[in-house]
Amino acid sequence: MKALKKASILMLAAGIVLGCSLLSGGCGMKSEKRIVRIAHSQSETHPEHLGLLKFKEYIEENLGDKYEVQIYPNELLGGQTKVIELAQTGAIDFVLVGTPNLENFADVYEVFSMPYLFTSEEAYHSVMNDVDYMQQVYRSTDEAGFQVLTWYNAGTRSFYSKTPVHTPDDLKGLKMRVQQSPASVNMCNAFGAAASPMSFGEVYTAIQQGVIDGAENNELALTNNKHGEVAKYYAYNKHQMVPDVLVGNLKFLQGLSEEDYLIFQEAALISTEEELIEWEKQIEEAKETAENDMGVEFIDVDVQLFKDKVANVQNDMLTENESIRDLYDHIQEINETYLDASEKSEASKEEK
Ligand code: GCU
Repeated sequence: MKALKKASILMLAAGIVLGCSLLSGGCGMKSEKRIVRIAHSQSETHPEHLGLLKFKEYIEENLGDKYEVQIYPNELLGGQTKVIELAQTGAIDFVLVGTPNLENFADVYEVFSMPYLFTSEEAYHSVMNDVDYMQQVYRSTDEAGFQVLTWYNAGTRSFYSKTPVHTPDDLKGLKMRVQQSPASVNMCNAFGAAASPMSFGEVYTAIQQGVIDGAENNELALTNNKHGEVAKYYAYNKHQMVPDVLVGNLKFLQGLSEEDYLIFQEAALISTEEELIEWEKQIEEAKETAENDMGVEFIDVDVQLFKDKVANVQNDMLTENESIRDLYDHIQEINETYLDASEKSEASKEEK
C-alpha cells in the first residue's frame, strides 16, 4: 500500500511538472482537456466515492470537451492533513476531508468538534443542507486559498475499542485515536480518555498492534475500513456528527467561467444527494455486517452519563473562540425546531 501511494504521488508530481495528463494520452501527446483531480480517504465502495462518481459524471456529461475528472481514493495521495495542503497550493483541485482538518485555516470549523452539538440528525441535516447559510461559513477559508463546495454525511460518531465501554469511567486511560485537530483532542480528553491524533489510514494497524486501544467514528469505519476486525466493542455514546466537505482550490474555482462554475456547483450538490442516499443504505448494512459477520458487539449506553462528563466543553469552547458563536447560535435555533414537545419541556427545565 505504501509503495503504491509513493508511486502515485510521484506519477502525479511528474504529470504536474511536465504539464501533461496521466491518463488522457500521456506526456508528449497533445491533450485539450484539463484534468481535474480529487483526493479522498475512503474506499471505492464508500458512499462518498459513489457521490464523487456522480460529480465526475455530471461534469463530463456537461463539460466533457474541457474537463476529465480523476478520483484518487484510499488516501492514495496522502492523509487528509496532507491533501488539504495539496489543494491549497493547487497541486490537486479538490479534496474531501472532515471539518476538523479545516480548523487550522478557519477556526469557525471548530464548532463541529463540539460534543453533542446537534441534538438530532434532522437538525444536523437541516443546517448542512441550508446552502445559502453555509456559504458564509464556506467562504471563511478564502484567505487560505480554498473553499468548500458542499458537505457529505459522515454519520454519528461513537467510541469503539478492544475492551467494552459502558460508562465514561471505562474510557479512563484508554488511548483513543481522534482526527488531527486540537478541538478533537480536547473533546476526547474531556471524556477521560487519552486522545491520540493520527490520520485515518493508520488507525487499523495502530489498533491491531496495540498502539491505541480504539477510536471513535461512525459504523462504516467498522466495515468499510475493517476496524471491526480489530476492535470488537462499539458503544453508542453518539458524541458527534462531524460533516465531511468537498474542498476546491480557490484559484481553480475563480478561474472557471460563470457557466462552468455553475456546472461544478450543480455537480457538487448532485454528489451530495447521491452520497446521502447511499449513506442511509450502507449504514444499515454496516451495522448488520459488523454484528453478524465480524462479531462486533454494539453496546447501548446511557448517553446522558457521557453528556454529563463533557457538560462544560461547549461553554469553554465558546469562551475561547468567538468566531464559532454565530454558527453555534444558528445551530441551537435549528436544534430547537426539531425537539419534540417532551424534550422542549426538559430543555426549559434544564435552563432554569
Ligand atoms: C470518517 C470521515 C472521514 C474522516 C474519518 C476520520 O470516516 O468520513 O472524512 O477522515 O472519519 O476519523 O478520520
